[in-house]
Amino acid sequence: MKRTALVTGISGQDGSYLAEHLLSLGYRVCGILRRHSVAENQDYRLRHIEKDIETFYGDMLAPTSIQHVIEQVQPDEIYNLAGQSHVRISFDMAEFTAQVNGMGVLRLLEICRRSAPQAKIYQASSSEMFGLSIDSDERQRETTIMTPTSPYGCAKHFAYDCVRHFRRAHEMFASNGILFNHESPRRGSNFVTAKVIRGALAIKHGLAKELVLGNIDSQRDWGHSKDYVKAMRLILQHEKPDDFVIATGETRSVRTLCIYVFSQLGLNYLDYVKQDERFMRAEELPYLCGDASKARQVLGWIPTISFEELIDEMLESYEREITDGTHRIAG
Ligand code: GDD
Repeated sequence: MKRTALVTGISGQDGSYLAEHLLSLGYRVCGILRRHSVAENQDYRLRHIEKDIETFYGDMLAPTSIQHVIEQVQPDEIYNLAGQSHVRISFDMAEFTAQVNGMGVLRLLEICRRSAPQAKIYQASSSEMFGLSIDSDERQRETTIMTPTSPYGCAKHFAYDCVRHFRRAHEMFASNGILFNHESPRRGSNFVTAKVIRGALAIKHGLAKELVLGNIDSQRDWGHSKDYVKAMRLILQHEKPDDFVIATGETRSVRTLCIYVFSQLGLNYLDYVKQDERFMRAEELPYLCGDASKARQVLGWIPTISFEELIDEMLESYEREITDGTHRIAG
């Protein structure tokens, strides 16, 4: 029988790739959309599959709307990808971020406990939860202590703990995917990969003179969203609920990202990249490099798209937008 998946945050980067992946496996795919004042921004990543999925309005801050959808859809699997996903913005909107990314998850778990106790739940946890902790081999893994450095990380940590607690206390199938940074041509334009690539292309095409960034010495473990959504599904197919780090195991600085992107366009980043306080964080998370051995051994998951392939795909896609005249540059 067809399995039903419900994806909160289906209109985001991961939501759209996950929906495609689940459709390809024969799932009935339902998704929750938040109302956006610019209607086009609501579902532009879903237009190519809109006839194949069912969408409902709902908001993590309005639990009755979520409950209503869950009761209507009766999902076998719930992927909670909804949330305020921008770390720097979480410093400006700490309370909102905590409500959506933290309390929203607690409420979702409560709703599932009462209305869909059989449903398996995937929670989008984040490597941002590790904050300053690094194991002696310079990796972060499932056992690494969590010391988050942002309101976003604190809220995600609360949600992560709630998932583990509900699993133990109420025997619910609730699992955390601890995902390291993952990007794609569908990445929001104010995340650093998309910002650097769009900015460098704008310079190359004479549409901008410089690119203003924050801390370019922080290091991240960047993978491709398409690979990471496959891990989400595998996590829910495992025989028991558990927590898994999903990462490439390679780390690079934002500076290295700039060097690669600008040199692909025949430019030297030093001539164009400036730094400004506006894009710095009150507390920075300087280093992320994940160890996904557990996911490889238990789930058979491995990343298939390299850093260079990822960045080249984003470059190609944004260059096409410049040709079409639909290019956007983020602040
Ligand atoms: N966004 C942004 N803009 N980041 C900048 C900039 C800038 O102008 N300049 C430097 N950076 C640095 C940030 O300080 C950070 O160290 C790094 O680039 C990556 O920033 P983001 O791309 O915004 O991602 P993030 O690491 O903060 O958060 C992402 O990854 C998390 C997983 O670790 C998001 O996708 C989160 O939702 C996710 O949980």
